[in-house]
Amino acid sequence: MGVGNLEEIIDDDHAIVSTAMGPEYYVNIMSFVDKDELEPGCSVFLHNKDYSVVGILAEDSDPMVNVMKLEKAPQETYADIGGLEQQIQEIKESVELPLTHPELYEEMGIKPPKGVILYGPPGTGKTLLAKAVANQTSATFLRVVGSELIQKYLGEGPKLVRELFRVAQENSPSIVFIDEIDAIGTKRYDANSGGEREIQRTMLELLNQLDGFDAQADVKVIMATNRIETLDPALIRPGRIDRKIEFPLPDIKTKRRIFGIHTSRMSLSDDVDIEDLIPTKNDLSGADVKAICTEAGLLALRERRMRVSMEDFRQAKEKVLYQKTEGTPEGLYL
Ligand SMILES: Nc1ncnc2c1ncn2[C@@H]1O[C@H](COP(=O)(O)OP(=O)(O)O)[C@@H](O)[C@H]1O
Ligand SMILES: [Mg+2]
Repeated sequence: MGVGNLEEIIDDDHAIVSTAMGPEYYVNIMSFVDKDELEPGCSVFLHNKDYSVVGILAEDSDPMVNVMKLEKAPQETYADIGGLEQQIQEIKESVELPLTHPELYEEMGIKPPKGVILYGPPGTGKTLLAKAVANQTSATFLRVVGSELIQKYLGEGPKLVRELFRVAQENSPSIVFIDEIDAIGTKRYDANSGGEREIQRTMLELLNQLDGFDAQADVKVIMATNRIETLDPALIRPGRIDRKIEFPLPDIKTKRRIFGIHTSRMSLSDDVDIEDLIPTKNDLSGADVKAICTEAGLLALRERRMRVSMEDFRQAKEKVLYQKTEGTPEGLYL
């Protein structure tokens, strides 16, 4: 999706729009767009392929809510998470409980954190846990991905950040989840190019918004990153995001649990022994474990076998490990 400017309404189904890139287009207006709200000069969401008008981005409407609602409510639950007991506990205390029982913090005389940041290597369950929290509470859940704020809505990053928090406040209690924050939260030394400036403006607006609401407000922010060391320290300063929750690679016990979760709905032949698959020497993330299970299932399916064998798992593991090492310049994961 992109953002454009509505130049002229031709008839009920057609309009002329301009985009930040320059040219004007004669496009369709999708039937579900509220025609009464359309007027020349307003900002509109455009389909990324044919530029048809799919929504309205007006200062006084709720485009983010509309965009967010397109995303299904998360299905993930705490039961889908292997291990991470301490991380679940922390996020419950800092995000879930302040939303469901704010009075407890008041009685205790402490301020709940405004937000938390989840950090650790890729595939360790950060996105999974954030979604599970959203599933657990009845709070409004707004999810944006850092890189999308920049790329999808070119030039509109700061405006969308403002919108995001306004919509969160209007629909509170709510959780704002900014996944893969690295794209906008990275420290920068050189802001000469237009793109860099845009990123910096988006980041400044984010800091602005974080400072702009009270810790007691029923809006909580969850951020996630694979590379916390590259983040601008200003972002995770106390008073903004004051809880950092680390997601390490799983230990043996946790890997066993994650294998258990991902094989629970597969039919396994009798020779499958998960213990033999749990590696001791290599770094397998939760996502890798899931990939091994999926791959093993596919191998069995390819030969029209309805049960997954130990050999399938061995091959799958080899393949996943190979792809992992291929992808790293050091080539040294084992
Ligand atoms: N602790 C875990 N328990 C169960 N599955 C996991 C775990 N960690 C990762 N996974 C699996 O890997 C997938 C990708 O993990 P994700 O949460 O997207 O990782 P991250 O956001 O940390 O990069 C998840 O959807 C899940 O299927
Ligand atoms: Mg993630």
